[in-house]
Amino acid sequence: MRVTPARWTAFRVLQEFRDSNRFIDEILYSEIQKSGISSEDRRLAHQIVYGTFRNLHRLDFWIDRMSSKGIESLPTSIVDILRLGLFQLVFLDRIPSHAVVDESVRLCEAVSMTPIKGLVNAILRRFPDKRTVLDQAIKESPRRLSIESSHPQWLVDWAMRTFDKDRAQRWLMTNNEAPPTYISPLVSRHHENDSLTYSERISRATKNLLHEAAEAQATVDGEAIEWSSGQSLAEFQPLEEGRAYVQDPGARDAVRLLDPQPGEVVFDLCSAPGGKTLQMADTMNGQGRLVSVDSNSYRLKRLRENLGRCGFEWVDIQKRDLTKHWEEECGVADAVLVDVPCSGLGTLRRKVDLRYRLNPDDIGDLAMKSRAILETASRLVKPGGRLVFSTCTLTEEENRGTLDRFLDRHPGTWRLLEEKRSPQWLYEDRVSEEIPDSDGSYCVRIERA
Ligand SMILES: C[S@@+](CC[C@H](N)C(=O)[O-])C[C@H]1O[C@@H](n2cnc3c(N)ncnc32)[C@H](O)[C@@H]1O
Repeated sequence: MRVTPARWTAFRVLQEFRDSNRFIDEILYSEIQKSGISSEDRRLAHQIVYGTFRNLHRLDFWIDRMSSKGIESLPTSIVDILRLGLFQLVFLDRIPSHAVVDESVRLCEAVSMTPIKGLVNAILRRFPDKRTVLDQAIKESPRRLSIESSHPQWLVDWAMRTFDKDRAQRWLMTNNEAPPTYISPLVSRHHENDSLTYSERISRATKNLLHEAAEAQATVDGEAIEWSSGQSLAEFQPLEEGRAYVQDPGARDAVRLLDPQPGEVVFDLCSAPGGKTLQMADTMNGQGRLVSVDSNSYRLKRLRENLGRCGFEWVDIQKRDLTKHWEEECGVADAVLVDVPCSGLGTLRRKVDLRYRLNPDDIGDLAMKSRAILETASRLVKPGGRLVFSTCTLTEEENRGTLDRFLDRHPGTWRLLEEKRSPQWLYEDRVSEEIPDSDGSYCVRIERA
């Protein structure tokens, strides 16, 4: 008997994650392309992979305690087989235990680990009887929160230092919930009635999206719909036809703050894969100049595809390293958005493997890189023009800290106008019911004298 395609794909993703620098969404995508598995198997593979990564520390704690010489003594392929097996046993009710054990043993045979299949079989079969004792051991561990929330200890310590205890714990646990998906309409190519303002058209198009999406639940702040997970995004026509795009509300704030206008010269820096360029291009409606810049060829290819699908071929796409000065465009821009590369702590719900890749030194390194990019970006702005600096992270060093150092270097030249942090519940005591459940982000608008 062969291993079922969903489990084999999930196993390949875990193995590839160890061997490469790639994110699991990319690995999963390429494994699915290679294997050509059915959409049902694809969904199961996705569920197993994401669930396993969301619970990795807990699964590893169990494996460590149940193997006589500890997890470090096991071959990595066996650790991955046990991770997948335990995840399915504990978190996926619809798969019978005997099927999980049989599949895990077959996986051992498929990867030439037949001599160890007895150990895998024994650990998985004994697990239900040991569960209570193992969970008690987690409760008594000094690393309890790190294991229960499956975050590296340094991130737990960072959250505890940064927020009050309740918020820090809620943030850690929320990072293990499947995030909502939001879809916003694009209207500039499709307006039948010119007498409506842009925001009136957006609000009408949002209602139309809701009708087209059989299972979507609600409109969010009048500019997006929340997607129901029961329906496949790939089959949603407005996305395919470039009439809509997927964007988190936290990410939309930056463009709202920038408020690009038709006829202006606008730069979107660090722009790929282009969520914010789409939003800006739609607002500008082909009037003026919009330049979208990134340094990464692979991401620029996706940006080009996204803009093409939505009919925004007029946008000027450029490849550049923005840590370097850009002489030719100095002082030309009415508005610049700079969405710097950051630690991404606001997106841990979506990028479930990011927490295991980051280390504490990354924060300082990324902040230093952002300062260089912000310096280049600021020189493009003409007197009286505006700049929005944004990130999808939560560390003050990368957010307000980076801005403050910039303002200190340019006294009297820039004025801070507005600052926004998401999600609201992390920063404010009273949370408005209308505010959608968004990722973490930071944006600030400054104006040049
Ligand atoms: C947060 S992402 C941008 C997301 C994008 N604004 C969007 O809305 O889809 C940061 C981007 O910065 C780009 N980047 C990193 N270093 C860069 C550099 N030195 N010059 C230009 N772009 C850079 C990365 O390739 C990445 O696409």
